Amino acid sequence: MARLPDGLALFVPFAAPGDLVRIRMVERKKRFGRGEIVELIEPGPDRVDAPCSVFGRCGGCRWQHLAYPAQLEAKRKILREALTRIGGWMPPEEIPFTPSPSGYGYRTRARVLLGRAGVGYRREASHALCPVERCPILVPELDAELARWAGGEGSQGRVDAPEEWEMVADDGGSVRRHGLEGSAAALPAPSEFSVAGDRMTISPGTFVQANRLLHAALHRAVLAAAGRGARALELHAGAGFFSLVLARQFEALEVVESSSGAVADLRVNLARAGLSHVQVSEGHVDRMLESRARDGVDLVLLDPPRAGLSESASAALIEIAAPRVVYLSCDPATLARDTARLGAGGYALESVEGFDLFPQTAHLEALVVLTRQGGDQG
Ligand SMILES: C[S@@+](CC[C@H](N)C(=O)[O-])C[C@H]1O[C@@H](n2cnc3c(N)ncnc32)[C@H](O)[C@@H]1O
Repeated sequence: MARLPDGLALFVPFAAPGDLVRIRMVERKKRFGRGEIVELIEPGPDRVDAPCSVFGRCGGCRWQHLAYPAQLEAKRKILREALTRIGGWMPPEEIPFTPSPSGYGYRTRARVLLGRAGVGYRREASHALCPVERCPILVPELDAELARWAGGEGSQGRVDAPEEWEMVADDGGSVRRHGLEGSAAALPAPSEFSVAGDRMTISPGTFVQANRLLHAALHRAVLAAAGRGARALELHAGAGFFSLVLARQFEALEVVESSSGAVADLRVNLARAGLSHVQVSEGHVDRMLESRARDGVDLVLLDPPRAGLSESASAALIEIAAPRVVYLSCDPATLARDTARLGAGGYALESVEGFDLFPQTAHLEALVVLTRQGGDQG
C-alpha cells in the first residue's frame, strides 16, 4: 500500500515495501485507489526474484517477490492488527510466529483446474484457467505429478468448462488425484498419514492440513494449548488430526464435524487407535450447539473454515462456559470477530501465536487461547 501526496491510500499489487515504482492509476474511489506497476525504478530492500515462471499471471502465491522474513513480519502485523482493530484485544507487540521450515516444497494438497488449455490454477484476478507445468510450493512428488499431468499423461479428462480436481501427497510419497463435484472420474483410495505416532486415513475430499512441514509443530502447539482434563468438546474435527491425541488427554471427548466423508474417516481413525470413549456427532456446529445442554466441559477446541463461527454459535459457546477455549483459525478477520464476541461474553485472551502454513501467500494460521474470567458467569 502506498499513499499519494493527498493522503489517498493506493493499493498496488506486486509492489514490495520500500520499492520506488512508476504506477498507472487503474481505479480511484473516494477513500482509496488501485494502481498497477508500470516500471520498477528501484527495488525495496525486501524484494527478491520470484522463482515461479507464472508468478503474476497465476492467482496463487502473490508474495513470492517478498523475502521470507518480510513475509513473516507482514503476517505478524496482519494478525496483530486484526486482533486489535476488529477484536478490540491488546495482543503482545511481538506475536510468536512459527515459520515454515521451507518457503517452498511444503504443500501436500492442491486444488487444480483441468480444462481445454491444460492443467493449472485460476488466473490472477480471474476465474479463467492459468496453465502451469511446475508449482514450486508443492511437495516434490506433487510437483512431479503436476508436471506429468501437464505433459499429457492422464490428461484425457480435459473438458470445455474447466473441472476442479484435488491432488494429495501422503507421507509415503504416494500421490492421489480426484475430480471434485461434478466429475465423472472414480475416486482413488484414501491417503495415509502419520500424526504423532497414529496412522490416519484421509479419504479424497476430506480436509488435511496443507503444510506437511508444519504438521508436527501445529499438532504439538494445539494439544499443549488444550491441556488435560475431564471433558472436552472439539468442533470442526475433520478426520481427527487433533482428536486422536485429545482423546488421550481428556477422560471424555465429544467431537463435531459436518462432512460425512470426514466423519467416516474419523470413525476409522478412532477405532484403529482403540479410542472407544469418543462421542462423534455428525452435523453442523450451529445445530449441535443450539441443542446442547450446558454441562461442565473443561475445554472447547475449534478449528473452523475461513467463515469462522456464526453469531448464534458464538453465543452458544458463551453459554457452554468452558473455562478454556482454544481457537485455531485460518482467517484473522473472522478470528478477531468471533473472539471479540467471546470476549464480550466473559473470556480473556491468554495467548496468541501464528504458524506460517502458507508461505508465498498472504494467508496465515493463528492459534488463540481464551480463558473464562470470574468463574461462573452464565
Ligand atoms: C479447517 S478444517 C479442520 C479439520 C481438522 N481440525 C483438521 O485439523 O484436520 C475445518 C473442518 O470443519 C468442517 N466444517 C465446516 N463447517 C462446519 C460446520 N458448520 N459444522 C461442523 N463442521 C464444519 C469441515 O468439514 C472441515 O473438516
